Parts: sequence; C-alpha cells; structure tokens
Amino acid sequence: MELNDRTLLKTQAFIAGQWVDADNGDSLDVINPATGTVIAKIAKCAGAETRRAIEAAEKAQLDWRKRPAKERANLLRTWFNLMMENQEDLARILTAEQGKTLSEARGEITYGANFIEWFAEEAKRLYGDVIPPPADDRRIVCVKQPVGVVACITPWNFPNAMLTRKLGAALAPGCTTVCKPASATPLSAFAIAELARRAAIPAGVINIVAGHTGAIGEELTSNPIVRKLTFTGSTKVGKKLIAQCAETVKRTSMELGGNAPFIVFDDADLKGAVQATINSKYRNAGQTCVCANRILVQDGVHDEYARLLAEAVSEFRLGNGVEEGVTMGPLIDESAADNVCSLIDEAVGRGARVVLGGGRSELGGTFVEPTILSGVTDKMRVFREEIFGPVSPLVRFHTEEEAIALANDTEFGLAAYFCARDIGRVWRVAEGLEYGIIGINEGVISNEMAPFGGMKQSGNGREGSKYGLDEYVEIKYLCIGGIDR
Ligand code: SIN
Repeated sequence: MELNDRTLLKTQAFIAGQWVDADNGDSLDVINPATGTVIAKIAKCAGAETRRAIEAAEKAQLDWRKRPAKERANLLRTWFNLMMENQEDLARILTAEQGKTLSEARGEITYGANFIEWFAEEAKRLYGDVIPPPADDRRIVCVKQPVGVVACITPWNFPNAMLTRKLGAALAPGCTTVCKPASATPLSAFAIAELARRAAIPAGVINIVAGHTGAIGEELTSNPIVRKLTFTGSTKVGKKLIAQCAETVKRTSMELGGNAPFIVFDDADLKGAVQATINSKYRNAGQTCVCANRILVQDGVHDEYARLLAEAVSEFRLGNGVEEGVTMGPLIDESAADNVCSLIDEAVGRGARVVLGGGRSELGGTFVEPTILSGVTDKMRVFREEIFGPVSPLVRFHTEEEAIALANDTEFGLAAYFCARDIGRVWRVAEGLEYGIIGINEGVISNEMAPFGGMKQSGNGREGSKYGLDEYVEIKYLCIGGIDR
C-alpha cells in the first residue's frame, strides 16, 4: 500500500487516547479482497478491552458534554479538515481493505467527512423549546442533553462513512463513543481515530476496538454504562442486538437490510433511467443496502430498457480497484461471491434468462461479473433476498398498481427508486411505496443533508440531516413553578 503518511496505518486498538495491543497479544489478519494478500495484523480484542473502552468513554463524557457547543464544533471542523487533507491516504487504505475502486473510495472519504462537517455545524443549533404552560405560575422548558456513552457497530461496505455518520451525530451534542468496526475492514476506522487524536479531540471521546465480534458485542450490549447502540448491518444481526439491548433498555438506531425496487415506467426518460439504475445498482459492486435489488420494468419499454442497460454495463472493467481504468472491484470475500452466484443459478434454474454476465468472472475468487437477468419472478430468491452483488434482475410488469404491489411485497423498507415523468404518477407512486427513502429519476440518494433510514425490518431511526441529532439526545422537560409568588 503506497501512502504519503504511513503513520495513518494503525493496527492496535484505540482506548482512552492510547494505541494498545490486545490483552493476550492476539492478532487478526486483514485481507485485500482483490489480491487475497494479508495487508495488516490488527489487535484482536475481546470483552476486557471493550470494558476498559466503555469506562474511558464514561470518564471522557464528564468533560466533553460540558464543553460549549462551539468548542465541540471547532474540534469536529478541525477533524473534517484533516480527513480532507489526508483524503488520498484514507482512500488507499479503504480500497486495500474493502476492494472498491480508488475513485469510489475517494468519493467515500468526501461523503464520510461531510457528516463530520455537517454535524460540526449542527452542534451549535441544538435548540430546545419553551412550551405554553397549563397555569400562570409555571413555565415549561425543554432542553436537549446528550444520551451518554454510545456504542457504534459498523459494517465493511462503507468502512469510513458508516462510522463518521454515527460519530458526527454522537459527538456533536456531547456523547462519547466505543466503536466496533467490521473485522474485515478495521483500518479505515483506526486511521480516522488517529486523525481525531491529531485534531485534539480529547482522549476517551472516541474508542475503537475490533476483533472477537461476539465478545465485543456482548459487552457493548450488556454493559449498563452504554446508553445507546447504533448499528448498520444485516437485519439478522440487528434483531439479535436489539434483543441483547433489551435487558438494559438501551436506545437503539438500526440501519439494516434492504430489498430496493427500481421501477421504470413507460413514461420514463429511458437513458436517464439506465444511468440512474447503474448509479444505484452497481455502486460498490452492488454491496450497499440501498442498491437497486429488483428492477421492475413496464411492458412498453422493457425490451429497449434491457438493451440500453446491457449496452452500458458491458463497458464495465472488473479488476483490482487500484488499477487505472478499473470501474468495478471484487466482492468482500469468496463466500459473498458464492452467495451471489448461487442466487443467479437459482433464478436461471427457475427460468430467468442471462442477458449479460452470469457468474464468477475469469479473474476468479472474489470477482463476480456484472450481470443482468430477465424474466425474473417473485418466486425467485433473487427477488426476495438482498443480493449484495452486481446483479440486475429484471421483472416485467403491466400496471402502476401492480408495480407498487410488487415493490411493497417484502419485509424490507429502506430505499426504493422509480423513473417517471407524469406528475400525478410521481405523487401516487411516491406516496404508495412503503420505504424510508425514495429516489425519483435519481439513483444516488445518500448525502449528509438528507435523513437516511428505513421502515419495516430495515430498521429504526434516521442518520444524517437535522433529524440525525435527535437520535443522540434526551429531551428533558423542566417544569418551573412558583413564578408569580
Ligand atoms: C449502506 O449500504 O449501509 C449505506 C449506503 C449509503 O450510505 O449510501
């Protein structure tokens, strides 16, 4: 890995402002998914280190919550500046551990840093309320206070941005944190923690432990000092974490799985629809929870849309994300690639037709060809399950009502997309879809200014935007009596 500043490549846990080894000296390999080579050995922490990190966060809270909002805002702003100054190194670390192309990784660093900038600004606008009282001698005031120590558990698909989206919102109102990045991609988290240290964010405000997932998760969910858990990942793991948090009645925010429909109506601008599909579907090689998962296309434009999509996708170049000209990287590991291939095989076995791609690339291992399937039905696994890979399953439909029913026929409710020009249809469909995020003639919906989150089994809470702060504050009501005595 070529870096301008090799000291950003940290491999130890970050606890109470110190870089430390695991208590028993254990380590865990971090593997480059494009080459299969070990790029780092990180400290493999467990329950004891996590407990110390939680205690450090509790101690740091006393001072951090008392600082004026402007001071926290300035520290976050300094951190944002350092992220942008080190964008190239952060992107290289990200590509090496995660596999996405370097240009996508650079984009993720900007996307991630924007959350820190946004919440630095929002920190100063954490307003309360004055409420008309029920009697003359009283006043009612609501103040917002930080929730306390927050546990952040983040996934491997956006190792930078999923963490900053939580950290910005937690730190701004005065919470402190213990973070557990995915074992596959901890280096991005360590690198931004090092930049937080350089930004003079006080020791203990951010702690990072990686390693034994079960033991760390057990401590984070059972320790009563932790007041809130925020998680991005699968619905299966999210449900388990919610259950584990029940014992100590922690607040939770869950950003879980998706099964995004992408609907192309007869009146859509087809070229725009194809570009929006590509932006949504093939971002990060299909490994996002808001990727288009099922592409529903109306009869009248189905064949032309399929032709245009295949023409555009056939231009992709698969390979190691650091190489010039590569437009799509590998999947995170071989078992992810096995799963995607098995979804393709099952659909084909049940009658779907391969329009493009169709399985593992000749590069082997973690590489799956960008694939388009037609003739997909709601009986196939590819329609029901989150694919998390570069597969576009095309489903033909006839009417608007049928499209909405097909789109809502899932336990998930994170993102949905549709392309149409008729204004009546735009409103009807937007209101009929049971999803937290709707992209209309647009495949890229993620940014720091808008609320990100889902309905149904896609989770609870919203991240980013002005609503994101609400997840990290308690509303305290002050009833002040004796005013006119
Ligand atoms: C995710 O896949 O969990 C998040 C994607 C995004 O932030 O756009």
